Amino acid sequence: MAFVMNDAESSNQKILVEAKGVNKSYKTKRETIHVLNETDLKVFSGEVLGIVGASGVGKSTLLHVLGGLDKPENGEVFFKGENIYRRGNSFLDKFRNIHIGFVFQFFNLLPDFTALENAMFPALIQNVNKPAAKERAEYLLDEVGLKNRMSHKPGELSGGESQRVALARGLMNQPDMLLADEPTGNLDAHASDQLIELIRKLNKELNQTFVLVTHSQRVAGQLDRVLELVDGKVNPINQSLLI
Ligand SMILES: Nc1ncnc2c1ncn2[C@@H]1O[C@H](COP(=O)(O)OP(=O)(O)OP(=O)(O)O)[C@@H](O)[C@H]1O
Ligand SMILES: [Mg+2]
Repeated sequence: MAFVMNDAESSNQKILVEAKGVNKSYKTKRETIHVLNETDLKVFSGEVLGIVGASGVGKSTLLHVLGGLDKPENGEVFFKGENIYRRGNSFLDKFRNIHIGFVFQFFNLLPDFTALENAMFPALIQNVNKPAAKERAEYLLDEVGLKNRMSHKPGELSGGESQRVALARGLMNQPDMLLADEPTGNLDAHASDQLIELIRKLNKELNQTFVLVTHSQRVAGQLDRVLELVDGKVNPINQSLLI
């Protein structure tokens, strides 16, 4: 049964990532938009955490801050107790490549490379030998149901298929945390359920931690814990209200 797990109830779990008092704003010529406002958030090891909220509220921004992609103006982000933004850019590049997998809202696949090559990319950056990278990419693409699309380039894939290639790519280096921005955004209900089932399977088999941003109540209802981002702060959601 779905329930709200608060920090006290989940305190027996290990904290993988913790954001403390994070502020993030965007300055344009006309105004400053305060997106994250003293935001506190914990991600526990081995959970599938959902983040929901209205369009433009800052979900993608929050995901980027958690994954070492976007330095907040104030506040800290701790990964396994280490303050990641206290170090320089080369540390952050390495940190992301080793520990974090990203599935971006708009996939960010390389258009001139096949699905297989796109999935292999993070491993090649880490100098994993090519046959081993190919083998893992093939395994992951098979897992996400794209065995017959490996030689397709992004322009020859549907939106949902591109999203699944991005998921395979995100899992390539066996990250500690996979951050996925609307991974089911282009999928119908059936395909979305299949993808969430796959995510649950990877979570169970590999104890893979996921943080998923979603607009879908149906998806949110299938996750371990859901937080809603409102006015720059996150609040737990009672999932039984979502189903
Ligand atoms: N580079 C930028 N410069 C200025 N404003 C920005 C920039 N990036 C994002 N914003 C603004 O910050 C706010 C939060 O953006 P963000 O992309 O995090 O929202 P979101 O919750 O992911 O929205 P969606 O659900 O539509 O993807 C939005 O109002 C957006 O217009
Ligand atoms: Mg977004």
